[in-house]
Amino acid sequence: MPDKQAAGLLNAQINRELYSSYLYLSFSNFYIEKGLAGFGNWFHVQAQEELDHALLLLRYLQNNEMPVRFSGVEPPPPQTHSLLEPFQAALSHERFVTGSIHAVYEAAQQDGDYRTMQFLDWFIKEQAEEETSVSELLKKLELFGDDPRSLYLLDQELAGRVYAAPTLTL
Ligand code: FEO
Repeated sequence: MPDKQAAGLLNAQINRELYSSYLYLSFSNFYIEKGLAGFGNWFHVQAQEELDHALLLLRYLQNNEMPVRFSGVEPPPPQTHSLLEPFQAALSHERFVTGSIHAVYEAAQQDGDYRTMQFLDWFIKEQAEEETSVSELLKKLELFGDDPRSLYLLDQELAGRVYAAPTLTL
């Protein structure tokens, strides 16, 4: 059974992942309204993955007979007119989430909660991948975003992203 300190942090992480999903749905909607359905698709898939993260955390707590408390999900911030800003915000948010995952890991480590540490290994790797993918797309947008033809091609590329269920099994 996970240590109580880690369990409380894991519970809080469920809310952060749900917020991430909500935030990325708002970014998806922003791009769709701008006529960039590929960008919208990319963030829609991202939102699905964030919901998966929340559900994995929920299931982990349930499997270990730890209480789960639900709290309200904050609304996403108002949208801007900048095509860059959602990716800038996403990168900043992913770094914040990485920090919070690391904090749970440290709490588990201090308490010798090896089960939670092992469970979090997947999340730590996932965060690294997410930071990299958002950062790479942000760089592409910074380089090519002002050129309509390049923007069109990038939108086509992002339209090809397909949702895949998480590789972590509990
Ligand atoms: Fe599940 Fe991107 O944090």
